[in-house]
Amino acid sequence: MADNAPIGVFDSGVGGLSVLREIRLRLPRESLLYLADSGHVPYGEKSPEFIRERCRLIAAFLLGQGAKALVLACNTATAAGIAELRERYPQIPLVGMEPAVKPAARATRSGVVGVLATTGTLKSARFAALLDRFASDVRVITQPCPGLVECIEAGDLSSPKTRALLATFVQPLLDQGCDTLILGCTHYPFIKPLLAEMVPPAVTLVDTGAAVARQLETILMERNQLAGSEPGTRFWSSGEPHRLAQVLPLLWGEDATVSYYPD
Ligand code: DGL
Repeated sequence: MADNAPIGVFDSGVGGLSVLREIRLRLPRESLLYLADSGHVPYGEKSPEFIRERCRLIAAFLLGQGAKALVLACNTATAAGIAELRERYPQIPLVGMEPAVKPAARATRSGVVGVLATTGTLKSARFAALLDRFASDVRVITQPCPGLVECIEAGDLSSPKTRALLATFVQPLLDQGCDTLILGCTHYPFIKPLLAEMVPPAVTLVDTGAAVARQLETILMERNQLAGSEPGTRFWSSGEPHRLAQVLPLLWGEDATVSYYPD
């Protein structure tokens, strides 16, 4: 029997739309709820306690809207908050994100992998555990990218300002011999075209959106919870809804109405 309840997806802002796109591609019959916590973006420089509180509130809201599963479409929120949400909601399928260290360690030929991510993700215990587990045979160079999320939030994916900022993060990684770059923040897939212009063609860019959509499909299939309906997508923002509405055509590919999430 189909389960037509929606899937709840959230991020600090527009970054999770890069994951939402992959979910839509992989699971076109699922209804989706997306919450951009734009009133509190960026998460990258905030404390884990603050982010855990955001995760608690937003998860409760999305479940209150009838979500049958939750996707933390944010590496920073996953690092800080997914363990607690799993304890709180053991019966709800929860899918999080983490920088794709394992595939990158397999892909590198130079043995040097760069990770672009937020300060919060790179400082987290989850990330340290990921390196211990999968990166013992490669050199991993981490690069926080303060300021980049703000450019992407504004829909600025290719201006000279964004290009110059990105170059300050990427060039040192290339200079140290990285041939594989992990996009460890869900905002960054939106600047993949810019990044691709900046790095030699032999450099591999690795992100996780498609893998998350596959994992979500597997979990829902195992639980017999895939939908078979005419799907819809609803959006909320804790910032200014019209700002999210403005960038949706660019980042989501369609216009949509955005409601205000007040908490
Ligand atoms: N998109 C988020 C991530 O994947 C967080 C970006 C931010 O708010 O700093 O880490």
